[in-house]
Amino acid sequence: MNKRIALIPGDGIGIEVTAEAVKLLQKLKASRSLPLEWRTFDWGAEKYLREGISLPEGAIEMLRREFDAILIGAVGDPRISSLKYAVDILLGIRSGLDLYVNQRPVKLLSRKLCPLKSRTEQDINFVIFRENTEGLYAGMGGNFKRDTPEEIAVQEDVNTRKGVERILVYAFEYARSGGLTRVCMSDKSNAMPQGHGLWQRTFADVCKRYPDIEPRHLYVDTLAMEMVKNPAQFQVIATCNLFGDILSDLAAQLQGGLGLAPSANIHPGAVSMFEPVHGSAPDLAGKDLANPLAAMLAAGMMLDHLGFPQVAAEIESAVSRAIDEDKTTPDLGGTMGTREVGDWICGTLE
Ligand code: IPM
Ligand code: MG
Repeated sequence: MNKRIALIPGDGIGIEVTAEAVKLLQKLKASRSLPLEWRTFDWGAEKYLREGISLPEGAIEMLRREFDAILIGAVGDPRISSLKYAVDILLGIRSGLDLYVNQRPVKLLSRKLCPLKSRTEQDINFVIFRENTEGLYAGMGGNFKRDTPEEIAVQEDVNTRKGVERILVYAFEYARSGGLTRVCMSDKSNAMPQGHGLWQRTFADVCKRYPDIEPRHLYVDTLAMEMVKNPAQFQVIATCNLFGDILSDLAAQLQGGLGLAPSANIHPGAVSMFEPVHGSAPDLAGKDLANPLAAMLAAGMMLDHLGFPQVAAEIESAVSRAIDEDKTTPDLGGTMGTREVGDWICGTLE
């Protein structure tokens, strides 16, 4: 049985980097006989402008029924000032498919890309697990006296016992199964005692089930500081939706920028979605300047998830080599175009 992949290139550079990821899948399908098939969906700005449709009706059920994985580029277009259509697609799939784990690995592949003084590949190698379905992203709240000087805006931070527990359990299981020994949970329970008090209490309970793992807690402001001061202390970080969003951009810079940051949106045992952390970067679009490596690494995470970990490891080493040999786009110091980098990666996987 083929593994069925839904491709959503999206907008801007999302389209260009997804094309390189597909080139890679094509290459691996032919040279490693990987049982893969894919179908492309045109969800994004053009469709929205043409038809007024963001995430089509029935899309979630169709993805769940007909696919094993989703690979998405990026969504967002400057012609549409409200980014609601993009949020409908991205957050719509995350919550619609209940992809409660957002896994964002942070791995320095080459020390020359690290902005921190004297840090090496050994110092920066951890993973952030971001709760991906609730928190401040739940979309609960409202506006009162809108567009008047007395306007009140309320955005609710939704934390459920089930939601918090399952992301923490996932992080601990990941640590245990990978032979890691430390999990750090981050919240802001000093200032948000109700919502993040729940994180504290749930963490204390979950820790007891993993006596082999050393638990640690850091308030998110301290964690941001420590991540820059001494990133080597971290192995696994688990946190809420918003903090994970912010920390993963900070962390991406430690490994060379968003052009190298892949991510996975996972519901264990069900269709999951893989994406580069970067956005659609309209200013770079159409110029053959976008770095395709994050999308190619995201394809690697997808293949790992689909049961081909060896191939994922090969992709990562090819990316490391590209960096070492300056076969990169200008953001990483190279002089190559998007397509040329994609070709080079495929060539080394010969
Ligand atoms: C990300 C992005 C999204 C998020 C935006 C586009 C809604 O920043 O995937 O990190 O906040 O989750
Ligand atoms: Mg983000």
